[in-house]
Amino acid sequence: MTLPGCSRWRLRQNFLLYLFYCAGFFCLFGIISIWFGMNTDRDYVHPLLTQLIPAGHCACQTSTTFQCSTCLSCPEQSPAHLPPPGAPSPWQFQSTRDANNESLDADQCQTAFPGLFEDVSRAGVYWRAHGYLGTEDLDRIPLELGMARAFIHRGELHVVAVHSKGEDHRRKILAVLSSIHRALVADARRAARRDIEFVFSVEDKVEDVTSSDNPVWVLARSATEEAVWLMPDFGFWAWDNTQNSIGPFDQVVERVKRADIPWSEKKQQLVWRGKPSFAPKLRRALMDATRGKSWGDVKQVDWTDGTNIMRMEDHCQYMFIAHVEGRSYSASLKYRQACNSVIVAHKLQYIQHHHYLLVPDGPHQNYIEVERDFNDLSAKMEPLLRDTKAAQRIADNSVRTFRERYLTKAAEACYWRALFDGYEQVWNSSVTVWSEQQQRERGLRYESFILLDSQSMLNFETM
Ligand SMILES: *[C@@H]1O[C@H](CO)[C@@H](O)[C@H](O)[C@H]1NC(C)=O
Ligand SMILES: *[C@@H]1O[C@H](CO)[C@@H](O)[C@H](O)[C@H]1NC(C)=O
Repeated sequence: MTLPGCSRWRLRQNFLLYLFYCAGFFCLFGIISIWFGMNTDRDYVHPLLTQLIPAGHCACQTSTTFQCSTCLSCPEQSPAHLPPPGAPSPWQFQSTRDANNESLDADQCQTAFPGLFEDVSRAGVYWRAHGYLGTEDLDRIPLELGMARAFIHRGELHVVAVHSKGEDHRRKILAVLSSIHRALVADARRAARRDIEFVFSVEDKVEDVTSSDNPVWVLARSATEEAVWLMPDFGFWAWDNTQNSIGPFDQVVERVKRADIPWSEKKQQLVWRGKPSFAPKLRRALMDATRGKSWGDVKQVDWTDGTNIMRMEDHCQYMFIAHVEGRSYSASLKYRQACNSVIVAHKLQYIQHHHYLLVPDGPHQNYIEVERDFNDLSAKMEPLLRDTKAAQRIADNSVRTFRERYLTKAAEACYWRALFDGYEQVWNSSVTVWSEQQQRERGLRYESFILLDSQSMLNFETM
């Protein structure tokens, strides 16, 4: 009799099939849950799920804290910087007098902003060791959407090519070109500048558009992206995209200063508003670390129905403001630094040009640094909530360092010119200004470029 064996086999087969369906169901359920965990903007997601969310955009565990060689404290500690007795006192940066002066000369820039030009010298060292730069290095770079190529000839800015996906790219590229132009026209030695040609990107990440071996000017880099050059972000000119009109950075700072309140009146809480789905692992970790804490005021924002939206200047009502990276760097750090409040940030993975000035401890401490999973947040917050004088010192350092010095128009213009100078020193080519092929000037002067209609700017090519 084979029947029982056969039916047993069939039973087993059914059982296997059943197992298979179950496994399939759980897989599907798992995938849907993780997708939900990554894309939802709900306030609460079960901790098990937040554990499961892949780190995705923030996969890298490395982060950057600088032990800056030309640190903030050096100039005032070094006796070499003290004038000899009787000598006229040397020029010093005075924020109330100089913050808006875009025309400081190179020596004044060095005196006013020690530590600001770290990344320019770093990239210079890199390219001196990697065979300098020339036209052929730029020709090798495919110009993806969000990138532009331009040159400076006798101090004048010329646009060679612009590739943008849409209005957002177009505005960001225009803002970068305008910042470059502003830094140039404010320069007394403009006409004597050496010619340079360069490519820049306004995308969030280097890997979005190009290989990290290319000498592209970018808004942020990770520690391993050594060939790129950091430039100040377009928000210094103005952050006005189609959904969001924030304005020129210095105008935002004025707005924030007007709304700022005395330290003693600030809420003794940590504030954060944002969309968790931009960087779910990081942002959910912050939400979980503050849930149920009396000192936490961390909420998810819904732009569609306006839930929990908070104006930039209203963040100043709080003693503590949290900063979390997004897809890559988050341009909002500089707006948060405009308040006289304590910035609380996780160890950052993306470097912007002014990040070298962030000091996480010691007498010059100007922010609080926590781990990327925020597990030491309570431990760092609680002593400062008990001793708000100590917190106030950190907030004052932040204002003195960033709002009144390194994030001023003067500093921005100095940085741009230091970038031109640093790049000049490794630029080992001439710049072609006449196109033999087309029998006309190569590129279009910035002054003419900005008069083009928007459509012609979107994808512009004059090679
Ligand atoms: C800005 O700085 C330059 C260079 O030091 C100086 O000549 C000029 O007078 C300053 N402008 C103002 C308004 O202070
Ligand atoms: C600069 O370019 C010239 C000519 O192409 C070459 O001979 C020289 O070695 C280059 N210098 C450096 C430092 O690369």
